[in-house]
Amino acid sequence: MTDRSRPEAVEKPPHKTARAWHESRYGSLDQRAIDALERREVRELLRPSRGQLELILDAPAGYGRLTTLLAELSPRAVFAVDLSLERVRCVPRLPGIVVVQADLAHLPFRPKAFDLVACFRHFHHIRDPEDQRLRLAQIANVARRRVLLTYYEPLSLHALQRGFLVRLRRRKRRLGFMAPTFVHAELERLGFRVVADRALIPWIHAQRILLAERVGSSPT
Ligand SMILES: C[S@@+](CC[C@H](N)C(=O)[O-])C[C@H]1O[C@@H](n2cnc3c(N)ncnc32)[C@H](O)[C@@H]1O
Repeated sequence: MTDRSRPEAVEKPPHKTARAWHESRYGSLDQRAIDALERREVRELLRPSRGQLELILDAPAGYGRLTTLLAELSPRAVFAVDLSLERVRCVPRLPGIVVVQADLAHLPFRPKAFDLVACFRHFHHIRDPEDQRLRLAQIANVARRRVLLTYYEPLSLHALQRGFLVRLRRRKRRLGFMAPTFVHAELERLGFRVVADRALIPWIHAQRILLAERVGSSPT
């Protein structure tokens, strides 16, 4: 028998908050350290151009881990773009942050629309060099002045360890690695000059952070 006196309970889909996303990915000690190092590098690399990067694209933004930090550096707006609606819904709704669900392969912006395009923790999910080339071109296309990106280099303890774990079937997913020479050559071909390219934890962790500027754009 059904109870008609009470409204039917509607099951809500579970909504993961930005905090929950962050805890699940960066909750461990080593990942917390990587997150902190990344933030330090972003601040340091962008300090000279603080206030001059009017429009910034954070793509993919995920749940907005670095979007608010980028917003501190932009006097106008940061566009946070991600394919995942679930994640992009968690990006903080603050003045100066515009949230867009979109695919990096089909960015809905005109060429050179942004003073800075930031692309964190995306390239190590792309394994095929042709796909890596294409993605570099897609993000460079919308950058008027600068590109700030992270990638994984193959010469590190982290890369070696990951390879072993996959071979031992302790990890399923192979990661995408790019040699610095490959990234620099591609960016050069796209009309950019590499200004900085640093390992977060040299030789230990595979992650590097790179800043490049479009040749002929103002030097700030
Ligand atoms: C490891 S997260 C990085 C997010 C953020 N940049 C950060 O550092 O926290 C990778 C993100 O890439 C997004 N993504 C993957 N493929 C994408 C695509 N083709 N277009 C837009 N976003 C994509 C995923 O939804 C995910 O949120």
